[in-house]
Parts: sequence; structure tokens; C-alpha cells
Amino acid sequence: MDYECIMTEVRGESALKTGLITLNRPKQMNALNDRLMDELGAALLAFDADDGIGCIIVTGSEKAFAAGADIAAMATLGHMDAWKAGYISRNWETIRQVKKPVIAAVAGFALGGGCEVAMMCDIVLAADNAKFGQPEIKLGIVPGAGGTQRLPRAVGKAKAMDMLLTGRMMGAEEAERAGLVSRIVPLAGLLDEAFATAELINALGAPSIALTKELVNEAFESGLSSGVKAERRVFHSLFGTEDQREGMDAFLAKRKPAFKHR
Ligand code: CAA
Repeated sequence: MDYECIMTEVRGESALKTGLITLNRPKQMNALNDRLMDELGAALLAFDADDGIGCIIVTGSEKAFAAGADIAAMATLGHMDAWKAGYISRNWETIRQVKKPVIAAVAGFALGGGCEVAMMCDIVLAADNAKFGQPEIKLGIVPGAGGTQRLPRAVGKAKAMDMLLTGRMMGAEEAERAGLVSRIVPLAGLLDEAFATAELINALGAPSIALTKELVNEAFESGLSSGVKAERRVFHSLFGTEDQREGMDAFLAKRKPAFKHR
């Protein structure tokens, strides 16, 4: 697929490399139209299928991670147009199919669908100029890509209601305090920190990384008992991998593990 609205790149020195996806509609503050979401999905799935890639980073510009769904593209949609075209449901959920860790490196505005895409990622690094919000209420709509569901899970009901009912933005510090982001990073060092985080993960055993991601996501889908049961099953199954032998042998021999990712 030829990309018009995103750019992709692969970086890294170690065996497993990192795939970078940069959202690139600068004139529209990276507003998320269908084309961009199709491309983002395709790029994510391509990196996910590539055995040479460990982690994936999704980023935008210094001004905007993404200012939300493209308002110009949806302003005239009718109910049936939106439903028939599978608007949002068709291509926004692709990110959830990705098994590898996805790091959002967020600078500037992450609003509406932009905030929702960040929340679908696994680790969210926020530049100190990042601003998060779900301003859909000001457009006479509600979030359409999981904002009413993921935001309360991330920040609790009271803060989520405050954000969703007023449409106000919160800065990086408030977002970190609230648990919406993993860490704040100075803007100039945002991508370097995202790559450094990816490198740390890439050096670890791929099966346990993928299964940890799956289990943490399970925590948001199921009750405690079934989540803990799922965890126990995965824990037991990992004793069938070479990486478990290597990780534990290396610890006991006081040497660095050389994971084979199997
Ligand atoms: N869709 C389409 N175009 C957008 C856009 C969006 N979401 N956000 C910004 N733009 C465009 C503006 O129309 C403007 O274009 P022109 O230069 O052609 O006029 C350009 O980007 C620059 O924007 P501003 O002039 O407004 O820049 P600013 O610095 O004054 O403000 C902003 C920046 C706060 C992000 C402001 O643009 C804004 O509030 N944008 C809309 C945010 C929003 O409401 N997002 C939610 C969308 S709905 C959604 O996402 C639903 C869902 O759940 C999936």
C-alpha cells in the first residue's frame, strides 16, 4: 500500500528492530480520516507480521499527535451513511489486533479520536506539551472509538466525567497524575525515549512479551478470577519455551540472557 497520510520507518541496532509510524496530515493537525486509519491499520499489521520487528511506535508531529476524527469528512454524514460505511468500526479497531507492544509517543494535541488511539496503545509516553481531551460533546456528538469506555478505566469515573461532559483538555502533568499516560518526557527527547523503551522490550523474550500484553488487556475484559486463571495457564505454558530456560539459566549463572524469542 502506498501511504499518503502516514510515514513508516524501521530503526534499531539489535536483532529485533522497532517500527515507527508517523501520522502525517500536518495541515489538518493529523485529523484521522478514513484513508489515514486504513493506512495506520495496514502499517500496524505489516509490522506485526514482520519477524524482524519487536515493538511499534505510533507518533504524530510536535504540534499534534492527532486532533481527532476528521470533522470535515464526517460533518455531512447521515445516520445510515455512517452505519452502512461501518464508520469507525471498520478500521479503527485494527490497532487492537496487534500482538506486539505499541508505544504511543504523544506530543501536542491528542483530542477525540487522537486520545482514543493513544488509549488503544500499550504504553503512552507524553511530551511535556501534550494535551489530551475528548471534546466531542462540543460537536454535539459522543466519542466513537471507545473514549467513554477506556477513559473511565484509565482515569476513574469522576475525572472521566469531568473530561467527557465539559470537553476540556488536560495537560501532560494532569494526565500522568490521572494514570492516562505512562510517563512524561521533554518534547525534544520524546522519540529517543520511545525508541529506548522499545529497545528494552526488544531485548526480552517475545513470547512472554506478547502474552503479558494479552493478559493485561484481559484485565479490562474479564473479572478477576477468570483473569487470574488465564494468567496461570499462560504462566504454566511458558515453561515450554526456550526463552524460559535461557532467562532462568542466565539469572542463576549471573550472565545476560540471550533470548531466542521462542
Ligand atoms: N478535523 C478536521 N480538521 C481539523 C481537525 C479535525 N478534528 N482539527 C483541526 N483541524 C484543522 C482546522 O480545521 C484547521 O484547518 P484550516 O487551516 O484549513 O482552517 C487546521 O486543522 C488548524 O486548526 P486550528 O486553526 O483550529 O488550530 P488551533 O491551533 O487554533 O487549534 C485544535 C487546534 C485545538 C486542535 C482545534 O483545531 C480543534 O479544536 N480541533 C478539533 C478537535 C476535536 O473536536 N476533535 C474531536 C473530533 S470528533 C472525534 O474524534 C470522534 C471520535 O471519537 C472518533
